[in-house]
Amino acid sequence: MAVPGRSADSGIIDRVTNDDPDVRMPAEAPPLSEPEIDALRRWIERGPSLAGRILVSPRSLSTPLKPRRPDLPSAEAGIDNPIDRIVFAYLEKARHRAARAGG
Ligand code: HEM
Repeated sequence: MAVPGRSADSGIIDRVTNDDPDVRMPAEAPPLSEPEIDALRRWIERGPSLAGRILVSPRSLSTPLKPRRPDLPSAEAGIDNPIDRIVFAYLEKARHRAARAGG
C-alpha cells in the first residue's frame, strides 16, 4: 500500500488523488488539498512510521520467517499430531524454565 521511496505507486496516494468520488479518500468529505497530499507523499518517501512505533521499510516487506520444515520433537504418549508435538515440547521447556526460576 505504501512503499518507501515510491509514493507515486502508493495505494494511499491513489486513494487521495483518484478522480472517482467513490474511490477517493477521505470518504464522504472534500478531497485533501495539494499541500496535504504532498505531505503524505513526503511521509511515504521517508519511509512511513506510525507514532514512531511501526516502520514500513523495504526490509519488513519480505516475510522474516520463511516457510520451513522444523525438526519434530519426539512423540510423547498420546501426542502424535505434529503441531501438538511442537506445542507440547515448547510448553515442557517453559515448564522447566519456570521450575529453574523457582516458579
Ligand atoms: C485522508 C484520510 C483518508 C485516507 C488517507 C484513507 C485511505 C484509505 C485507503 C488507502 C483505503 C484502502 C485500504 C485497502 O485497500 O486496504 C481506504 C479504504 C476505505 N476507507 Fe479511507 N481513508 C481516509 C479517510 C476515510 C474516511 C473519513 C472514511 C469514512 C468516512 C473512510 C472510509 C473508508 C472505507 C469504508 C474504506 C473501504 C472501502 C473502499 O475500498 O472504498 N476513509 N481508505
